[in-house]
Amino acid sequence: MKILVTGGAGFIGSNFVEYMFRNHPNYSITVFDAMTYASNPETVAKFKGRKGFRFIKGDINNTAAVNRAIKGHDWVVNFAAETHVDRSILGPGAFVETNVKGTFNLLEAARNSGVKKFLHISTDEVYGSVAGGKSKEGDMLEPTSPYSSSKAAADLIALSYFRTFGLPVIITRSSNNFGPYQHPEKFIPFFITRAMEGAELPLYGDGKNVRNWIFVEDNCSGLDTALHKGKPGEVYNIGGNVEVPNIMVAQAIAESLGVKTDKIKRVKDRPAHDRRYALDSSKLKKMGWKPRFDFFEALGITIAWYTHNRDWWLALKDKKFREYCRKNYKK
Ligand code: NAD
Ligand code: DAU
Repeated sequence: MKILVTGGAGFIGSNFVEYMFRNHPNYSITVFDAMTYASNPETVAKFKGRKGFRFIKGDINNTAAVNRAIKGHDWVVNFAAETHVDRSILGPGAFVETNVKGTFNLLEAARNSGVKKFLHISTDEVYGSVAGGKSKEGDMLEPTSPYSSSKAAADLIALSYFRTFGLPVIITRSSNNFGPYQHPEKFIPFFITRAMEGAELPLYGDGKNVRNWIFVEDNCSGLDTALHKGKPGEVYNIGGNVEVPNIMVAQAIAESLGVKTDKIKRVKDRPAHDRRYALDSSKLKKMGWKPRFDFFEALGITIAWYTHNRDWWLALKDKKFREYCRKNYKK
């Protein structure tokens, strides 16, 4: 089996490559990644020299590069995306470009090259904020941010390629991931690394927004299930087994790192900040998948990883990152 993994140098993509090599050692995997600010060369360096691994630096917005890269692959797994909600508020253009147009490029290339499966990675954010109950795969899409709207647009285009052209597209929508190799701009690693630096922890609004956290390894096993057992044209939710308000996550991080909780500072809320996400994952569970990690245990594993891999995240906190933080948190 030869798989093209776009965005495989990012957080979930690189954990997925590792998971697949561990569980399917005979598979060949090509990572195709533009190496944007969100990636770190160290993340993929560990795969170099491994039998079956290949790396191509390339942009999914570049049609010719995508057409070349896809040749000879049986399956495509598309993680490549602009992924940070706050950045989509500061500058939505790149989100439409990569998440919508880039996905379209990949779908076109897949259609022309005749790949046998196209797993498109999406998010629970496409359902919008959920006041009560849990989102099911058939629910209406009501995204709020430019990020989630660009992901919803990509989902619909991908499904249209199944319905119109018979391209074997499968879509997964997971809840908030956390774990090793997540960029320090995202909530959990941002708070962990800031706590380690002795800096303040900026909590948006009243801190009561709820996320349905999933440890990245549980998402990877869900992706593996959807890839091998999923039916073309279907969507599968991959949700964690807890719902935790942000304030509780912030307190757990501070306490675990021996930082006083008065370091947690309420700051102006994110515009159109979704209050709650919650996924009903019973469709994938019926296929044998379930999340295995306890949230607080996995948070401990994650904190330990950031403690032992300081150089990895310090390299990402460069001048551009500090400029981004000044812009985003100036309020
Ligand atoms: P990430 O930002 O850590 O990684 C994204 C990767 O894509 C990076 O390596 C980046 O270099 C690459 N990339 C960006 N633009 C590209 C382009 N034009 N061409 C090629 N490569 C490009 O993201 P992540 O958190 O690992 O998310 C991966 C996927 O999972 C995304 O599609 C995201 O929408 C989805 N998702 C993420 C979460 C989460 O909690 N992180 C939850 C649900 C769904
Ligand atoms: O739900 C899945 C989505 O999860 C993915 O599709 C996105 O790619 C991923 O970035 C993530 O989006 P969120 O906006 O939910 O994650 P983020 O880590 O940015 O924020 C998590 C929560 O923490 C959210 O309620 C906002 C809050 N937050 C975040 C940051 C960065 C803060 O209070 N302070 C912060 O500094």
